[in-house]
Amino acid sequence: MNIINPLKYAYLAMEAWFNLAFGSEWNPLYNMGRLAFFFFWIVFISGLYLFIFFDTSLTGAYASVEYITHEQWYIAGIMRSLHRYASDAAVVTIILHMFREFALGRYRGFRWFSWVTGVPALWLVITLGITGYWLVWDELAIYVAMLSSQLIDALPLISGSMSRNFVGEQLSDRFFSLMAFLHFSGQPLFLIFALWLHVKRLSLVKVTAPRGLAIGSFIGLLVLSIISPAVSHGPADASQVTAALELDWFYLNVYPLLGYFTAGQTWLITLGTTLFLMALPWLPAKKTGPAAVVHLEQCNGCEQCAEDCPYDAITVQARTDGAKFEHEVTVNADMCAACGICVGSCPASNPFRQKNEQLVTGIDMPQMPINEIRNTLDKTIADLKGNNKIIVLGCDNSLDYSQFETDSIKVVGLFCIGMMPATLVEYALANGVDGVFVTGCRTGDCYFRYGNIWMDKRFAGTRQPVLRRRAKRSRIKVSRAAITDGTRFQKELIAFQSHIEKLNGDEELAHE
Ligand code: HEM
Repeated sequence: MNIINPLKYAYLAMEAWFNLAFGSEWNPLYNMGRLAFFFFWIVFISGLYLFIFFDTSLTGAYASVEYITHEQWYIAGIMRSLHRYASDAAVVTIILHMFREFALGRYRGFRWFSWVTGVPALWLVITLGITGYWLVWDELAIYVAMLSSQLIDALPLISGSMSRNFVGEQLSDRFFSLMAFLHFSGQPLFLIFALWLHVKRLSLVKVTAPRGLAIGSFIGLLVLSIISPAVSHGPADASQVTAALELDWFYLNVYPLLGYFTAGQTWLITLGTTLFLMALPWLPAKKTGPAAVVHLEQCNGCEQCAEDCPYDAITVQARTDGAKFEHEVTVNADMCAACGICVGSCPASNPFRQKNEQLVTGIDMPQMPINEIRNTLDKTIADLKGNNKIIVLGCDNSLDYSQFETDSIKVVGLFCIGMMPATLVEYALANGVDGVFVTGCRTGDCYFRYGNIWMDKRFAGTRQPVLRRRAKRSRIKVSRAAITDGTRFQKELIAFQSHIEKLNGDEELAHE
């Protein structure tokens, strides 16, 4: 039984609206991480262009940015605006990406690593923006420089050393060059490393945004750059206080805190928030089920499970048991998300095998082995009554399907719909079921990333092990649902049963 969490429910309802507007492939809410990568590309390319004209000296920086903005407004000016707005868009998408993982509860258990590495990655993006604003060397830059030195000087060990970089009230040229070095190479390199770490435990990560979203958001940024170009404040002058600064709240949000708190308290707030965010996966902790187990005597080393695993938990190695096959697979228990997708990938999970004995497959889930799934299916089929018997094979993470059970409709739940061997559908049809309704998480939003994609491909015959041609496709329906889709799902189920009733009637007539 799903316990409906109001935040998750509201979020899924909103995603459904976005699906209507954009379709699942282009739904921006499904693609926030990928969009952030896209914005990084814009930032990178526009940054390269700006670098050609930027003067990295303290005395020349402001004038060079003015040249970029006003004299070469038609290219460099637009590049500057794209650089700024794409940076802002990156922060927005990262925060929405983070919020989504939180709202849907996808930050705990086996996902802890992606969550914990995501937080410093966000901080790196923000500090990269801070050094960027510093380099303009305008009134805003001096505000950033002065307040940053207050913050750094409050740290034990380096106490006072940052302020020493200010000669009189001006920043030293050497220190300014250090900022330029950080912004152009040091911080981007750290960020690339942090992002590599962030997705390290995932396989088949998509870092390119869907074409429509990329084109649409690029046009949006371009239009914004033309109608509201990014400009500088007046030149930096430490002896004057600027009355009105236009802060970029996505990047410079920490500085206003210094108006209310001391530098030490500001550190406590920021570090406390960071540590709290990083500790979230354990507040409370979520247990991941036991890892998949390889049964070598049934494994022919085909490697399909290793290719399908969404969490890179399966590796292929040379055979160790002297069998005639070249390879075998092994599971890294620490990386395993216990999704069971490997069971659906294994050709030995075919329920028509080992008929009157225990079904043993090449790779299995100890808490719900394929033999138990076959037994449950057999018992559930035996419980069905009436003439139009339907089995729902559904994913436990999408919707609580048991609420739709009737005498003639029964449910067999799986960890993920990708866990289902395609032959299980054939098996149900061959054993007295009139129709099989297969359902998993919404398209584009599989809880285990790839389960419903692999299932679609197996059914389409493009990924092994396939749903065989002889399977009666007119008696199979594929659907998708989340906890907010109950009403729609029920209608589809009833319509499917009517369809099966009609098929049965037609077949009976044909026999007479
Ligand atoms: C800094 C920029 C970030 C980028 C570019 C980024 C990008 C990505 C990408 C591309 C994925 C893989 C999605 C997939 O293929 O299923 C991902 C996964 C993930 N990200 Fe981020 N991310 C960033 C920051 C964050 C932050 C700040 C958090 C949260 C603190 C976070 C939490 C996660 C989690 C939990 C996953 C795992 C999703 C899963 O296992 O299904 N990310 N991220």
